[in-house]
Amino acid sequence: MSVLRLLCLFSITGGGVPKKQFEYFRRELLQTYGYEHLFTLNNLEKAGLFRVQEGKSPWPLIKKSLRLAVEDNDDSNPKDIAYVYSGYAPMSIRLVQHALKGGWGAIDETLRLLPGPAFQKKQLLDASIQSDSPADHFHYENAGAGQDGRRSLVLVVFIGGVTFAEISALRFLSKQEDMKCDFIVATTKLVNGSSLLETLTDDPLSLR
Ligand SMILES: *[C@@H]1O[C@H](CO)[C@@H](O)[C@H](O)[C@H]1NC(C)=O
Repeated sequence: MSVLRLLCLFSITGGGVPKKQFEYFRRELLQTYGYEHLFTLNNLEKAGLFRVQEGKSPWPLIKKSLRLAVEDNDDSNPKDIAYVYSGYAPMSIRLVQHALKGGWGAIDETLRLLPGPAFQKKQLLDASIQSDSPADHFHYENAGAGQDGRRSLVLVVFIGGVTFAEISALRFLSKQEDMKCDFIVATTKLVNGSSLLETLTDDPLSLR
């Protein structure tokens, strides 16, 4: 399982695995762990988690523009959400931060590098209450950003699953002094690295 997780990370951050290496890894995995894992490998490929590289990886640009790797983070006195993964800021929560800071307009180019569509929708309710609702990756409502001292309530919906670390990051955010909102997290599933891979594991020999 750890081998697969590492290979998935390698593939995702590299925009895929160079064809020659990809075939080598596949062959080694099947010969070492058994051919029944062919089904799992196919699932991972379909999900885009372990696949052949096509073109240049957008990862370095995404990492830089969303400031995903934060090196000078003090774990005992964290100032940034990157502390939840010891120096890596969850991308989902960075997107929430941007959404709250003034929308996704500023990171338009970056959003285009991520899989799936992204859009923002602003619904004007009345002069004092406003709500935004970008869908797909997230859906949140930003009710009047606390102009009158009220804390607003932001609903963040994760379709497909969220990790405990991402929830911690949101809790950390709402505790920051300049953050005038509380978050409600809704999700279809709580996941971690193992449980996520588990859903893609397909072993026809076991009678699950
Ligand atoms: C991951 O999630 C599964 C299922 O929810 C759970 O059984 C397991 O203990 C979790 N693993 C870790 C390392 O938290």
